[in-house]
Amino acid sequence: MAPRPPAELRATVLGVGAYAPPKVMTNDDLARLVDTSDEWITTRTGIKRRHIAGPDQATSDLAIVAAQQALDAAAVRAQDLDLILVGTATPDMLFPATACVLQDRLGAARAGAFDLLAACSSFVYGLISAGQMIASGVIRTALVVGADTLSRLVDWEDRGTCVLIGDGAGAVVLGSSESGRGIYTGRVGADGSAGDVLKVPAGGSRIPATAEAIERKLHRGYMDGQAVFKLAVRTIPGLIRETVAQAGWTMDQVDLIVPHQANLRIIEAMASQLHLPMEKFVVNIQEYGNTSAASVPLALFEAVQAGRIHAGDRLVLAAFGGGFTYAACALVWGT
Ligand code: ACO
Repeated sequence: MAPRPPAELRATVLGVGAYAPPKVMTNDDLARLVDTSDEWITTRTGIKRRHIAGPDQATSDLAIVAAQQALDAAAVRAQDLDLILVGTATPDMLFPATACVLQDRLGAARAGAFDLLAACSSFVYGLISAGQMIASGVIRTALVVGADTLSRLVDWEDRGTCVLIGDGAGAVVLGSSESGRGIYTGRVGADGSAGDVLKVPAGGSRIPATAEAIERKLHRGYMDGQAVFKLAVRTIPGLIRETVAQAGWTMDQVDLIVPHQANLRIIEAMASQLHLPMEKFVVNIQEYGNTSAASVPLALFEAVQAGRIHAGDRLVLAAFGGGFTYAACALVWGT
């Protein structure tokens, strides 16, 4: 009998966790801060509430709760992790990386640790990157986190942005599998020429956070909402189609899409362009708003908790954000 060819080694999700801070801000709460209304926010974005970090909660404080939950769900000990990768645009500080803060607090002494910045796409970029390190045999186990506290960067006087955002964290533990399940493929992309549509100009080496920069609010997030909307609607349906084709699947074989939660109308536009019913998309934007890098793992976590994801299901995770960046990952659920 001819020897069986070796099964393909894939990274697969062993456990998921998520956390949102307890403080909730409703649309009516926002209407007391800026000239807006529950009706405007709900019809233009689908958002009803968002969770906001307390003054003592930094990004790592949100991330550690999600990370510990993912480790428990995976039955993996922190000391057995080979890598901690945190996708975030709001690290605790410029350096050391928030991943290093987590490594210490979790007691993951063997793990390498680094942050990845692709704005709202950071988690999916990180999932693809860590997944490849596992598939190629460089590492065996990874904790991939998406966590952001955009409430610290947003201009709370700018009604065009402050109504959109929320804080949160999500995490997955990745291990390896030869069962045929796991991450099939991923695509990452960027259009740096569109960097100006969503940015935080100050706080880096170009414009340090001086008193003048702060006076001019350059340390706050700036966004051209309509431009971001158009870029997302033009880019993401094609990205999902290409990723599904690269995985060797057809669109009708996809069981569930976990999209970045930026605006319900963007998700509806994707569904319409892909000729898919909305039931195929995970939507939880009404509760959290746009939590940036946390949005996809938070939605994934809630879909798992709700029993919407079963072993063998074909999933696509897709995100876009400042950069302009975008990424999608196709995976078969289970070990
Ligand atoms: N409440 C009431 N009115 C508002 C608000 C508000 N919160 N914000 C804007 N408006 C007004 C505008 O001033 C404008 O008034 P005008 O017609 O008198 O000039 C009107 O509403 C329409 O504004 P538009 O910008 O055309 O509204 P649009 O339908 O495009 O929705 C939105 C704006 C929700 C921002 C949308 O463009 C969007 O979701 N874009 C994508 C945003 C995104 O995905 N960002 C990603 C990251 S978010 C971040 O990181 C901060």
